Amino acid sequence: EIERKVDSLLQLMTIEEKVGQMNQYNGFWDVTGPIPEGGSAEKKYEHLRKGWVGSMLSVRGVKEVRAVQKIVVEESRLGIPLIIGFDVIHGYKTLSPIPLAEAASWDLAAIKKSAEVAAAEASAVGINWTFGPNVDIVRDARWGRVMEGAGEDPFLGSRIAEARVHGFQGNDLSATNTIAACAKHFAAYGFAEAGKEYNTVDIGTSTLHNIVLPPFKAAVNANLRTVMNSFNEINGVPVTGSSFLQRDILKGKWNFDGFVISDWASINEMINWGHAKDKREAAKIASIAGSDMDMEGNVYIEELAQLVKDDVVKEAILDDAVRRILRVKFELGLFENPYKYCDEAREKEMIGNPKHHEAVLDMAKKSIVLLKNENNLLPLKKEGQKIALIGALANDKTSPLGSWRIASDDETAVSVLEGMQAYKGNELTFAKGAEFFIGKQSFLNEVVVNTTDKSDFDEAIKIAKQSDVVVMVLGEHGFQTGEGRSRTNLQLPGVQQELLEAVYKVNKNIVLVLNNGRPLAITWADKHIPAIVEAWQLGTQTGNAVAQVLYGDYNPSGKLPMSFPRNVGQVPIYYNYKNTGRPIDKDGNVFWSHYMDVEKTPLYPFGYGLSYSTFEYSDLKLNGTSFEIGNDINVSVNVKNTSSVDGKEVVQLYIRDLFGSITRPVRELKGFELTALKAGETKTINFTLNKETLGFYNNDGKYIVEPGDFKVFVGGSSITVHETSFELK
Ligand code: IFM
Repeated sequence: EIERKVDSLLQLMTIEEKVGQMNQYNGFWDVTGPIPEGGSAEKKYEHLRKGWVGSMLSVRGVKEVRAVQKIVVEESRLGIPLIIGFDVIHGYKTLSPIPLAEAASWDLAAIKKSAEVAAAEASAVGINWTFGPNVDIVRDARWGRVMEGAGEDPFLGSRIAEARVHGFQGNDLSATNTIAACAKHFAAYGFAEAGKEYNTVDIGTSTLHNIVLPPFKAAVNANLRTVMNSFNEINGVPVTGSSFLQRDILKGKWNFDGFVISDWASINEMINWGHAKDKREAAKIASIAGSDMDMEGNVYIEELAQLVKDDVVKEAILDDAVRRILRVKFELGLFENPYKYCDEAREKEMIGNPKHHEAVLDMAKKSIVLLKNENNLLPLKKEGQKIALIGALANDKTSPLGSWRIASDDETAVSVLEGMQAYKGNELTFAKGAEFFIGKQSFLNEVVVNTTDKSDFDEAIKIAKQSDVVVMVLGEHGFQTGEGRSRTNLQLPGVQQELLEAVYKVNKNIVLVLNNGRPLAITWADKHIPAIVEAWQLGTQTGNAVAQVLYGDYNPSGKLPMSFPRNVGQVPIYYNYKNTGRPIDKDGNVFWSHYMDVEKTPLYPFGYGLSYSTFEYSDLKLNGTSFEIGNDINVSVNVKNTSSVDGKEVVQLYIRDLFGSITRPVRELKGFELTALKAGETKTINFTLNKETLGFYNNDGKYIVEPGDFKVFVGGSSITVHETSFELK
């Protein structure tokens, strides 16, 4: 039915109107105000009236969306409604933890719920399309956009991609509380060389097919409606102009029937890359390669109609792109009612709804990873203690909101100080210890000047001396990660390391609470500080989540979705590396794969995280030792909570395919289950391995399963020692 409607509408459209559907403009904040004279806003109004705009991004609020929609619906010839896009990355106003933090929960139901909440708020302000989820696999913590994805692993990344797509889109895209999702950035943006933003990408075929593409494919299989391409090149071709990626793989092999949006002006950027000589050539290359919509680049709207008239680009290319765009608009129900997302009463009810606060608090607690807890320093006693809380970030109500939060307001997070103040049984004192950068951090402005000012150290040292326990909140400001925030130093920024060491000299009972959007190299802290809690940037409810974990009202169960390096020189470091021909030192020899100055293992491995409970694994079993390809292999293991507190554990299953026509990683995650275990309880956890999990892509991009010997590892992290093996015939 939708296809018939799309076809008949297409018949009515002029070339210019078709190109118009492929054109997206950025919003201008005065949509409801008087039309500004001259400048780009005036042109945008004119194009809206002509039906030369298919989508707007970053217009938000019922009043604004209604106003802009009204122009196209009432004034343009065909009245085709706009699709309204927005970066709803970890919430709209009420913010969940940054996506990397959510990934640390390994809790797919909670992650889906978090996307549902984001969709509920965003759809209530007129938005019907988010530019998320980010499914970029990343191995390099220097890259700022690490915070937007699900970490380093394609299996975990794929499951999270599915959960997020389901959460945003629901079962019915036409419902008023669901929005179209967009997997980005297609493809390999996360492999920007040296972690430097917008940089070239040079990866092999095997990495592309086995590491980068799986989460995109999983998202497509979950009925993803849109894909965004990226700023990088790969193998010398800017991906916006890559037919191989967009036509052959995405729309060909995977049968993706939604549409592809360029990243912001990424079509134009092919000129800077030295791939297209001018806008006309950029429009030609991108449209032929399958980039269906131009985000704010003005390239399609200026060049494409003429290219079709000159028969350089076939009209069929336009038809294919427009068909895809109209299909999604029909599915969203925009033709039935272009104002269906514009309901003031719903907007009022949904924004900051208490249920959303409950949900993001729950997500925040689940995202926390306990990295170290010597002598059970945590949880803190609730009474009779003198607690010193130190660190500028502890009293910060903006930084915990993280990056990519365009609609949320500064100063709206619950700070750690506020969260801890809710526990009244102890005597709490606070000192910021040190500001660690100068100036205001904001989404658009970077302030990279770290201070050297240590004048506030004394106050911190004084309260630390007088306390039983010191809680130090240190790390990165929320805008020290995110787009354009690459770093070459992964240590605590500014004078924070010095502050930590100065406080340690007077009181060793320190709980370090890390706030960060990327793995940090905290080797000194790991050696000296007894308790370390990875609290990322946890969104609106940060302080409550942190306090509840510190006081033991919530037992942490998060596991790292990325390896933490010992120093930046180890980067890229990841658990699913290749063995090399010289993996171990045999005779004190120098000629093996290692570093002279640091161990080759990470500081904290992928999948690692502690709990206030302790777990014991036993009885790892398979239902045989030899299997035919195609048969299911059952893996079971017993997990016991050996402590006196109820807890949750992420039971992880890894395989190693010992010999392959393409060398295989030393470990690959192939299953996980988050399970709750009461104190003393034992559960048997079952997994199935089959041909979907035992194979890999060869260098022709073909999925194959090869016979041979496999190892199976099950446990609470990627370095678990519980193993067994089987043969595949
Ligand atoms: O969605 C983003 C993208 O991730 C980076 N460039 C801008 C887009 C729209 O804001």
